[in-house]
Amino acid sequence: MAQFSESMDVPDMGRRQFMNLLTFGTVTGVALGVLYPVVKYFIPPSSGGAGGGTTAKDELGDTVSVSDFLGKHNAGDRVLVQGLKGDPTYIVVDGSESIQDYGINAICTHLGCVVPWNIAENKFKCPCHGSQYDATGKVVRGPAPLSLALSHVAVQDDQMVITPWTETDFRTEEEPWWA
Ligand code: FES
Repeated sequence: MAQFSESMDVPDMGRRQFMNLLTFGTVTGVALGVLYPVVKYFIPPSSGGAGGGTTAKDELGDTVSVSDFLGKHNAGDRVLVQGLKGDPTYIVVDGSESIQDYGINAICTHLGCVVPWNIAENKFKCPCHGSQYDATGKVVRGPAPLSLALSHVAVQDDQMVITPWTETDFRTEEEPWWA
């Protein structure tokens, strides 16, 4: 009986191995299909194409068009967009045709209120505890202990590409506290 069974099994081995291979291939394919979005989730997207950068979004989450933006704002304005990690970031309008190449993070370094721009006084004034920052975001009055964080802003294809600022802070000549 056992011999019969063995002899029946022998010709089957090739087919079985082949089937195993097919099954393995299918399982591997499924596993990769499942893993792909998981792996992709842990790799940060680089929207905008600049390493670690992001494209500026408006309050609705739409990508800001630089030409539209310049048509709506005037020289001297500081205009909020969503910058790195979605942080509220001021874009500095230079003139009718340009913006500055740095953005100013609007989060107060005291306790985190969003600091409004006061164009009449040419400074940022925090409504929470009275801290003040000059037009570049450098702290000029406490209790805020530090200047507002900076980021780089570049124009590419009518979009604003915002990237982290890791160099010396041009306002204080110090290392950036936020990097
Ligand atoms: Fe801005 Fe306190 S949070 S001064």
